[in-house]
Amino acid sequence: MGWLSRLSAVAAVATTALAAEASTSSKSSTAAEPCAQIAKLVKSGATSFSSQLALACIETTPFKSDVAVSFVDELKKYLEWHSTTEILRNPPPTALSATVDLFGGLANIRDRASANLYKSQYDFDADLFHLLSFANDGHLVILPCSFIFTFRSPLRLASLSSDGIAIPRLYTLGDGKLLAQGNKDVSPVTLINGVGAEAFTEQLSETMGFQDPDARYNSMLANVPIARDGSEFPGSYAGFVTIPGAHEFNLTYANGTQQTLPLTAIVSSRLDTDFTFSNGDELWDAACKPKPASSDDSGEKKRAESSTSAKEKPAPETYPKPIVKDPFNLITGYFPDDKGLEDVAVLTVPTFETTDAASGIPVNEIANFVLEAQDFVSKAIAAGKSKIIIDVTNNGGGVVNSGFGLVSVFFPNMTIFSATRYRSHPGTQFVVETYNRSPDTVADGLDQDGFFVPTLVKPDQNTTFKSVEDFLGPFDILGVPSTAIVAENTFAFNNETLFPINVYNEGGVLNGTTPPFAPENIVILTDGQCSSTCTIFVNHMIPYGVRVVTTGGRPQAGPMQSIGGVKGSQVLAFNTISTYFNNAQVLVQNATDNKKPLFTDKEMSVFSPYIPVALEDMPLRLTTASVNFRNAFSPFDDQTPTHFVYQAADCRLFYTAETLIKPETLWVNAANSIWGDGDCVFRSVPRKAIKSAGTKTESSKSAATSAVSGSTDENDEVQQDETQAPAPKKKKTRAPAHKALGLLLAMAEGLRG
Ligand SMILES: *[C@@H]1O[C@H](CO)[C@@H](O)[C@H](O)[C@H]1NC(C)=O
Ligand SMILES: *[C@@H]1O[C@H](CO)[C@@H](O)[C@H](O)[C@H]1NC(C)=O
Ligand SMILES: *[C@@H]1O[C@H](CO)[C@@H](O)[C@H](O)[C@H]1NC(C)=O
Ligand SMILES: *[C@@H]1O[C@H](CO)[C@@H](O)[C@H](O)[C@H]1NC(C)=O
Ligand SMILES: *[C@@H]1O[C@H](CO)[C@@H](O)[C@H](O)[C@H]1NC(C)=O
Ligand SMILES: *[C@@H]1O[C@H](CO)[C@@H](O)[C@H](O)[C@H]1NC(C)=O
Ligand SMILES: *[C@@H]1O[C@H](CO)[C@@H](O)[C@H](O)[C@H]1NC(C)=O
Repeated sequence: MGWLSRLSAVAAVATTALAAEASTSSKSSTAAEPCAQIAKLVKSGATSFSSQLALACIETTPFKSDVAVSFVDELKKYLEWHSTTEILRNPPPTALSATVDLFGGLANIRDRASANLYKSQYDFDADLFHLLSFANDGHLVILPCSFIFTFRSPLRLASLSSDGIAIPRLYTLGDGKLLAQGNKDVSPVTLINGVGAEAFTEQLSETMGFQDPDARYNSMLANVPIARDGSEFPGSYAGFVTIPGAHEFNLTYANGTQQTLPLTAIVSSRLDTDFTFSNGDELWDAACKPKPASSDDSGEKKRAESSTSAKEKPAPETYPKPIVKDPFNLITGYFPDDKGLEDVAVLTVPTFETTDAASGIPVNEIANFVLEAQDFVSKAIAAGKSKIIIDVTNNGGGVVNSGFGLVSVFFPNMTIFSATRYRSHPGTQFVVETYNRSPDTVADGLDQDGFFVPTLVKPDQNTTFKSVEDFLGPFDILGVPSTAIVAENTFAFNNETLFPINVYNEGGVLNGTTPPFAPENIVILTDGQCSSTCTIFVNHMIPYGVRVVTTGGRPQAGPMQSIGGVKGSQVLAFNTISTYFNNAQVLVQNATDNKKPLFTDKEMSVFSPYIPVALEDMPLRLTTASVNFRNAFSPFDDQTPTHFVYQAADCRLFYTAETLIKPETLWVNAANSIWGDGDCVFRSVPRKAIKSAGTKTESSKSAATSAVSGSTDENDEVQQDETQAPAPKKKKTRAPAHKALGLLLAMAEGLRG
């Protein structure tokens, strides 16, 4: 555990408790194999069973030392694409999260694997999972093969303040609703498993994928029990992929009452086969043994089928009647009639995931989304609304162009800014050099992958790179060997019909010419969980003078960051990285076949140790894993990735009991605190707006990126698609749906259902 500079007490206790658990359960398991018991239960129709039984089952998966060691070696080559590794080891003082040495930790795990010190595949997998989760980066994710159960808890907690300003207490969701109805006979939860409830919650949140501790705290809770897309939003107490330290949550209330809430387990849909195993070896074969790529089309089929079942969702309960409503509730506009909101319109944007075949959202939603936003804004102006609240609570990101599109609805005459860097190390250098040396790149449609230097532009959207070396550097950026600063897309390539963005006030589908609202009349509301594309959106709005109100966080006074998720500008799934390497290898091979090799043997000897096996050939099956590929930079600082810059919200508020049953109360409170005489828990010193997000780049001296009050940095973009694209046969596309999703979607599956 030396890789972690700050280990939470809960996690430490958890490890010990689990060790004790494992030794007792393995002794008693000779009678009936735990996996066989689960198979029997499942066969008889049971959908859930005890968490002890589930843990005992995965603890019987065999540990294969040689397989695990070679898995770590290949895994490392993929993780080399993660962009913040060196910074996480030595973060700037403005970063609030734990310091973690990812590669040092990986080396420790390799050593333990090599010495055969793990008791099971699960034991090894849990170590790996926890190592990566301490990066608190929603783009850096691994769900190892033995994680086939979701551990569920009925615990739902909300953090409620008496008036939105006083320090909040934790209540069960049920009690919070009673409190809202005027029932005073409820007590806050004071202890969980004998530890102060607030401290317990904070410690348990430490491995959540948010860089900000207040965002993590909120992520555990059901402060807003109905998400604005209408789904239940229980908070992360609802489900875990590993045991959260114990098999139950024992609650102690302030009035002395105690309550035990045991965990249960369900088989996750990540296991793409029926649970019929009679022991851990069979489970290992089904879940962890590599599958030849060709036989793996069942998952693809499943996804394709579900994509046809797109259904319009009803408007979210407990919210007012919408004026404009997207069929999937991706965006909804309201004219609330509450006192204090007479001249205020409210636009809720719970996600930028505007295309998602898996959940049946069609591709034309990308365009619909911004057209609906523009429609709502026109209606609001026509109805005499002079102010607007844009509520991005729990927005985990999505399609980058949808974030840019929404910015350009509000500021059609402002230039959108995009400045990113990715890692320049032998692995990415191999791909970049290959794409640039091969004569086939353009014909094969690979020139838009972000590696073909002639298509790349600097953040001014105009200047290009003189040479591949000019782009690749590497430049030392806080210890990360990085590319030069580069725009993530060239906006001129955007297909205006598919991705409406009003970049240069040129009209088109989004035809606004002047900002519909004055910046001081726009407020963004967040709960800190804003990630990826959401951070890009917010960081584009702030410099124009838009203010941000944020809600909740740890029960303490003081400032809170409004965007607590990953601010990296591109997530890359491992299978995309695998595809890029494969593309490059096809190009290299073709050139060699044509007797015009791209590289000398000496060059290849540098690259080779960094080229991993294809994802489907990994020694252990790995289907869900990703890295943060691009770091984003503000127009004022091309050295510190925005991810590590502290940005306090203009105003912080807490949740109240009333906001649980009538969430629009949050809008009233936000409006009062900014435009009325309402208080804030903490109010930041006002910033000076800038007129235009400019083009100052490559001027390595960084300007003020101050803590707490002064930062006006701006952020950028993202890319990435689902990427099953097999090698160079891909059709040429000018504008892929770049994505930045800051949440662990595979885990969310376990949390909702
Ligand atoms: C103590 O508080 C809990 C939680 O609010 C409540 O359910 C219970 O009824 C209370 N017990 C007594 C005796 O008041
Ligand atoms: C919860 O309470 C039960 C009953 O008192 C006890 O046996 C168990 O050890 C407690 N669990 C934890 C994690 O404190
Ligand atoms: C955009 O329009 C606003 C309002 O008319 C104006 O204040 C601002 O200077 C304009 N920005 C640019 C870059 O022209
Ligand atoms: C391989 O090279 C040949 C000859 O230059 C070319 O016609 C072909 O398109 C190339 N194949 C690929 C997959 O790039
Ligand atoms: C792009 O750069 C060229 C010169 O390098 C300049 O003439 C042109 O005006 C620039 N275009 C824009 C849109 O800035
Ligand atoms: C943009 O996309 C639309 C819809 O797919 C297509 O009809 C049109 O030809 C595209 N335009 C360009 C310039 O590629
Ligand atoms: C912009 O387009 C909409 C239709 O999408 C149209 O109703 C509106 O009049 C247009 N506005 C301007 C200023 O051209």
